[in-house]
Amino acid sequence: MMNRRTVLVGAGALMACGPSGVRPPRVQVPGATFPSTPFSYGVASGDPTSDAVVLWTALEVDPTQAGESFSVGWEVAADERFERVLQSGLASATGETGHTVHVDVTGLAGDGTYFYRFVVPGQVSPIGRTRTLRASGAPSSFRFGIGSCQDLRGGYFTAHRAAAAQQFDLFFFLGDFLYERNRMGVRAHQSAEPVDLAGYRARHAEYRRDADLQANLASCPWVVTWDDHEVVNNYGGLSHGSLSPEVLRERRRAAYRAYAEWMPLRVRPADDGSLQLFRGFEVGSLLSVSVLDTRQYRNRLVCGGRAGPACADWGAEDDSMLGQAQREWLEARLRASSASWNVLAQQVVFSDFTVGNGAFLNHDQWDGYPVERRRLLDVMDGLSRRNTIVLTGDIHLAALSRVLRPNTARATAVEIVTNSISSGGSQGEGNGSLIEGLVGGLPGLLYAYEGRRGYTACTVTDEAWQVDFEVVDSIDAPGGAVSTHASFEVNRELLARRR
Ligand SMILES: [Fe+2]
Repeated sequence: MMNRRTVLVGAGALMACGPSGVRPPRVQVPGATFPSTPFSYGVASGDPTSDAVVLWTALEVDPTQAGESFSVGWEVAADERFERVLQSGLASATGETGHTVHVDVTGLAGDGTYFYRFVVPGQVSPIGRTRTLRASGAPSSFRFGIGSCQDLRGGYFTAHRAAAAQQFDLFFFLGDFLYERNRMGVRAHQSAEPVDLAGYRARHAEYRRDADLQANLASCPWVVTWDDHEVVNNYGGLSHGSLSPEVLRERRRAAYRAYAEWMPLRVRPADDGSLQLFRGFEVGSLLSVSVLDTRQYRNRLVCGGRAGPACADWGAEDDSMLGQAQREWLEARLRASSASWNVLAQQVVFSDFTVGNGAFLNHDQWDGYPVERRRLLDVMDGLSRRNTIVLTGDIHLAALSRVLRPNTARATAVEIVTNSISSGGSQGEGNGSLIEGLVGGLPGLLYAYEGRRGYTACTVTDEAWQVDFEVVDSIDAPGGAVSTHASFEVNRELLARRR
């Protein structure tokens, strides 16, 4: 067997890769030739700024080489054919990070479109498209997609295929990127339920083989946050219905590390196993985006985190989803923002979804943490302009809601809830109406739809948001038809109307 470390092959000599018309790579990568592609998991980019973006890939290596390191070249070009390569370099894929690769490319121009690829001797990755954010001023419009909740068992990721075709400026993924539990569905997990680092890595690898998901990850930069299933269902902080804090702490550590390895993130886990996912992005003067983590820092699971009537200690003063540090960071960002729109990209429903005079509320969402929610509403109401839009996933339902305070009619914010990519499976009209029926009569709610799976597209200008709820007719088989189920416009006074 050849030793990869001692054989030097210039990948630039290999002409056979990529579609015709694409220039072969010029970056020289040391190592032995790969006889077949190790780029089984595609490419991705994420966490763009006005001058940088993180590029991601992973190598699938033979288990006998699990401890070895490999050089990986990368190129960023101004054009799809790689005639104008702007930057290139070498990274390494090591066993320490499961052969995942992160390259933080800096020195790019703002509001630019770029193309990138990775190279090992003898093989070239698929080409990814990415974008930087605008540094200042307002772009004429900013277009992004939103997704959440992709249970592989629920069906095919056709929504991602459709989103990829949109060539968005950005894609937000708001949690449940994978599911930890195993039960048969339209598709089946091939790996055991993850409980340790090897298990979570295997689960990520399994999801990342999906061609539709790969297409969307390669189509534009992603900004991700997690919900619960990236670790274990319905955990909060170090609390869980059946796992002890000690067991959950170790499981979290493994899951967080694997998440950081497999997502196009700039941040790395800290020595204590934590991962600071809350972070901000500025899109010129148009958007100030605060990405939240409503899982890692919860002080407890209120009322056991279950849905149902409020329990005796619901509404405790110090109950928190965000934790003090994140909440203070968020409040300061909101108060300091001069952007046309403030955006909260987060996981669980923010609006009051309490139904039947308190007979039913979901304590796993913001309804379980009313004191902290009230604090945030006070901040939003105190801004010189009410201009906050909350983006939400989690409940496998598409919705548009005006966030109302008790006994008020004017909206403090507008919440856009994106449907699941696949979780819950194809339901069809009329079958998915349980939650629709429960929340349909809420005063702030303008739209709720559970019937089919999909994603959400937003086009934002200085004046208004257009929100398009996209649905797939069936995800039981690949290639379902995608259509727009409903469109809304939200204007600067937070008045929303159906288009
Ligand atoms: Fe989910």
